[in-house]
Amino acid sequence: MHLNTFFFAAAATAVASAQDLASALAGQSSLTTLVALLGQVTNTTEFLASQENVTLFAPNDDAFAGIVQSGGIFSIDQASVDPGLIEQILRYHLYRGVVKAEDITPVPNFIHSYLNYSGFVLDGEVSGSNVTGGQVVSVNLNDVGDALVTAGIKVASKVTVADIAFDNGVIHIIDKLLLIPLSISETLITGNFTALAGAATQAGLVPTLEDLSDVTIFCPNNDAFQKIASGTGNITDEQLAEILKYHVVQGTVGYSTLLSNTSLPTLNDEEIKITIDDDGAVVVNSARVINADILVANGVIHVIDEVLNPANPSATPSGNVTATATTSLATFVPFTSGIEPETSVYFELTQTTSFVAAGLVTGTPSATSGSGNSSVTTTGGPVIQTTNAGGRNDLPALVAVVVIGAVAFAIDW
Ligand SMILES: *[C@@H]1O[C@H](CO)[C@@H](O)[C@H](O)[C@H]1NC(C)=O
Ligand SMILES: *[C@@H]1O[C@H](CO)[C@@H](O)[C@H](O)[C@H]1NC(C)=O
Ligand SMILES: *[C@@H]1O[C@H](CO)[C@@H](O)[C@H](O)[C@H]1NC(C)=O
Ligand SMILES: *[C@@H]1O[C@H](CO)[C@@H](O)[C@H](O)[C@H]1NC(C)=O
Ligand SMILES: *[C@@H]1O[C@H](CO)[C@@H](O)[C@H](O)[C@H]1NC(C)=O
Ligand SMILES: *[C@@H]1O[C@H](CO)[C@@H](O)[C@H](O)[C@H]1NC(C)=O
Ligand SMILES: *[C@@H]1O[C@H](CO)[C@@H](O)[C@H](O)[C@H]1NC(C)=O
Ligand SMILES: *[C@@H]1O[C@H](CO)[C@@H](O)[C@H](O)[C@H]1NC(C)=O
Ligand SMILES: *[C@@H]1O[C@H](CO)[C@@H](O)[C@H](O)[C@H]1NC(C)=O
Repeated sequence: MHLNTFFFAAAATAVASAQDLASALAGQSSLTTLVALLGQVTNTTEFLASQENVTLFAPNDDAFAGIVQSGGIFSIDQASVDPGLIEQILRYHLYRGVVKAEDITPVPNFIHSYLNYSGFVLDGEVSGSNVTGGQVVSVNLNDVGDALVTAGIKVASKVTVADIAFDNGVIHIIDKLLLIPLSISETLITGNFTALAGAATQAGLVPTLEDLSDVTIFCPNNDAFQKIASGTGNITDEQLAEILKYHVVQGTVGYSTLLSNTSLPTLNDEEIKITIDDDGAVVVNSARVINADILVANGVIHVIDEVLNPANPSATPSGNVTATATTSLATFVPFTSGIEPETSVYFELTQTTSFVAAGLVTGTPSATSGSGNSSVTTTGGPVIQTTNAGGRNDLPALVAVVVIGAVAFAIDW
């Protein structure tokens, strides 16, 4: 109760000092690049100024410089070369609804941006948004109390200054650009999910999947495919397509916080059964979700540890996953022959999370869930504590290359 009163007082002060966008941004010395970009893409600025109740995540100068330093060529000049691209990047930093520091909890909140159309070409791949209501990010507090904004391929930006009030809502300064979610295939390759990528390619399903809006894909990892490798020798492309379609739900973007005990219709006109066990773990038929909420251009991917079998929908998880895995593991990963494996894989995509439902997304189960405890400090212009916890969420070289590729592409075009 004390805590709430405190936050309420802080929020009230912030609202009282509301100001227009230009004044709010001008008051922050670390936002000169953003101010310059907004000056170039004036229709976005005007659009922003005409909206009510928004949250703007404002990348600081270091965030833009980071892209330049890693070999990128992101600069103000590009705004005049490709204002359309810059506009879409800016739209992905602008969210519907006011999310203040006090609203950010350990449970991720999936909020919708103003990036609501597709056609964004990143590194030669279609990326962007085919998600009803606008492409999302998740916002949550990590276990040391930093507010994180997690975007494409789980790259997380950290809020360094929170709750700068302005007439249209609130601004939070972040330390990295929000990476617009990539296409399904680009995301699969980035996470080294080469078996699914290869299988979808073999079955001719990639264009179909990428053209859909609002999908939830349960993605068996390479170990899962390896478990069934011995049975894949004679499979036809049609059979493979049916199996893969059984992993895709269309019409619902099932972020982890929205999943419940239910059955969901799949693309092959059957149903998969979702169970949230009492630990918060998500089970799909016989598979466990081991990494949730990887955002893609047209929805979300959850990584699972088994390939789902449409011929055996009532399968339940074996009691001991390790035992099953070791007894039937083949010596090869099927469907990967034409796929170039990644030499470096972004950690956030390959790690296993133990608790994935109801927002309990954490690598090491701990007692931090839902306490509302955080290290958000609200004295003198609320600043969320920043700790440099050792580069775990650093923008990987790979992502920098993708972003650079996009910009280079845009200019060549
Ligand atoms: C903005 O939020 C205020 C306060 O909650 C509300 O009264 C108003 O209707 C909202 N405006 C829009 C356009 O949603
Ligand atoms: C905003 O302006 C840029 C160029 O001036 C243009 O490429 C873009 O399509 C415009 N966006 C809208 C929504 O009009
Ligand atoms: C995108 O959002 C804008 C308003 O922000 C709206 O005018 C436009 O119709 C939307 N487009 C789609 C495809 O939803
Ligand atoms: C977005 O989804 C719709 C509906 O599934 C589809 O018709 C459209 O082609 C998709 N757009 C893109 C660019 O993938
Ligand atoms: C593939 O089919 C052949 C001929 O029907 C059979 O002998 C072989 O065992 C099958 N292989 C697998 C892996 O099912
Ligand atoms: C979902 O189903 C499982 C297994 O039947 C059960 O243990 C769990 O309590 C259920 N969860 C909810 C929220 O009903
Ligand atoms: C699971 O099986 C492995 C290998 O047989 C064994 O080492 C491990 O103790 C088992 N774990 C449990 C919880 O039974
Ligand atoms: C990618 O997956 C393959 C097959 O599972 C594995 O051999 C390889 O080590 C993985 N690459 C990385 C970088 O983890
Ligand atoms: C908040 O943190 C304090 C100190 O670590 C602890 O004593 C308290 O129980 C926590 N409150 C909740 C609701 O977890």
